[in-house]
Amino acid sequence: MSTTQAPRAKRPTDNLSYTDLYRRWEKGNWSAMDLDFTQDAIDWQEKFTPFEREAALFNYALFFWGEDAVADNLSPYIDAAPLEEQKYFLTTQQVDEARHAVFFKRFMHEALGIGQGDARSGLQEIRPLLSWGFNQIFDRLDRMADELRADRSIPNLCRAVTLYHLIIEATMAQPGQHMITTYLADRDVMPGFRTGMEFVSADELRHIAFGVKLLADLAPGNPEAEAAVADMLREVSRWLGHVFAPPNWDERYLTTFGWSFDKIGEESISSLETKLRSAGMPIESLPGPPVMPYDLSPVERSRLGLAMAQSNIFGPGRVPPKSDPETMRIFFDMVKRGVNHDHGLDQPTTIAWDFTDAPSWHLRIAGDDVTAAEGLGDADLRLRVSYRDWVDVVANRADARKLLLTRRLRPKGSLRLFARMPKIFG
Ligand SMILES: [Fe+2]
Ligand SMILES: [Fe+2]
Repeated sequence: MSTTQAPRAKRPTDNLSYTDLYRRWEKGNWSAMDLDFTQDAIDWQEKFTPFEREAALFNYALFFWGEDAVADNLSPYIDAAPLEEQKYFLTTQQVDEARHAVFFKRFMHEALGIGQGDARSGLQEIRPLLSWGFNQIFDRLDRMADELRADRSIPNLCRAVTLYHLIIEATMAQPGQHMITTYLADRDVMPGFRTGMEFVSADELRHIAFGVKLLADLAPGNPEAEAAVADMLREVSRWLGHVFAPPNWDERYLTTFGWSFDKIGEESISSLETKLRSAGMPIESLPGPPVMPYDLSPVERSRLGLAMAQSNIFGPGRVPPKSDPETMRIFFDMVKRGVNHDHGLDQPTTIAWDFTDAPSWHLRIAGDDVTAAEGLGDADLRLRVSYRDWVDVVANRADARKLLLTRRLRPKGSLRLFARMPKIFG
């Protein structure tokens, strides 16, 4: 019997060093102040229709706000990084993000007439355009920066890098940049903005490569760090479908530029998955309840996320969730997929939701086999609750313990099983 450990599989990041990334930064330097937006201002008025200007502005606003916010929030990452070479690179990244914010501020003012020429007035003017999902993610980034200042541990740094480099940069920004640079090139318009966006995209590729390398070096094989990565992904996944949410879910905001919800969603999800795999943590290997339905393709996952967002299941919760049969089917499909693999139930178990305001549904859990169906089934545990309240619990807008205390949630049957629900659903 051999006692030597099998060597770990080679990762794409093995051939990349922090020093290489730093060198690339020196070589890739550019000037946001030297770009000329004179032609951009003409093209904006003459080559875009009023609707295209509205659609493009919605998208550019997310970038302007995002670049400013990531520039502000990177310093605790520099403090928490364990190696000097990582700190040096992160310092260059902070310079890049400031340059990106200056670039957007200038473009928004000089070509689009937004703000008075300073960052504050520009940001104030575009603030109402930001989507609810976008605001959730950037509020989380602000809190994450504070949390990282207070706790510089490796798992917390991995959690923070997952949000910053994997979600904001790789999942949200990269596909958006791809869309913008593609239609600017196809239409041959706004040369100043286009040149700047190409520089920004090249910088972001380097930032994302750094994030992937840092995670690859610190997380795989460290159970606490892997759990922190998975927790962050689960936390933000309910907001992602709401990030690129134009008013009234008007898909023409994308189709007018040759894109669609499917195309941008598929690109986002594929990008996230590729980066996790390169970091040595394929998404399906992460601990705890599944981050996403692994049996679906990226485009199917994107459609599911969009359907959840459009039916008010995930979202601000200001209006009741839809309760038509199709919405309830996809909702319970998601509840079913959220069951923890190591739920610890040693015999087949049925949990039913006896809704006060919608048809009842149940889940049957038998080992790895989980099914969801309408009706109460042969319930071991029956939860009397409103559908709206339960959707709020699943979407993290309400706390099940509070509902229990106020008797808005009344369990009947096996209370032992009720007590185990947090473990079953993670
Ligand atoms: Fe940036
Ligand atoms: Fe970046």
